[in-house]
Amino acid sequence: MPAEVKRVMGKYACTTCHAPQVRLIGPSWQQLAQRNYTPRQLAALMRKPQPENWPDYPPMEPIPTFTNADAKIIADWLKQIQN
Ligand code: HEC
Repeated sequence: MPAEVKRVMGKYACTTCHAPQVRLIGPSWQQLAQRNYTPRQLAALMRKPQPENWPDYPPMEPIPTFTNADAKIIADWLKQIQN
């Protein structure tokens, strides 16, 4: 994982709920990558999650302080890990 991605994840503790390949509290990064979110969509979902997108999971807590710059870093990285 690139350093700037680690920094963003550390800031919001994303990795307590998301792991690369396996389900934790939330879906894996691999699964999230399949949704192909743009930075804009990702930012909106972090501030206001739509749990109906993942019916099989508990709702994610909103992160109101999530920035657009951080959304771009995460969305770009998710594109890279897509396969
Ligand atoms: C306390 C646990 C928790 C934390 C912390 C957390 N998530 Fe989640 N996340 C979830 C759960 C559970 C879901 C699925 C249900 C939902 O979307 O509400 C989810 C869904 C998502 C989705 C899919 C949204 C959708 O509607 O398709 C993305 C993308 C995501 N998380 C990224 C992140 C990122 C990036 C962070 C850190 C900034 C983060 N999550 C922090 C638990 C968490």
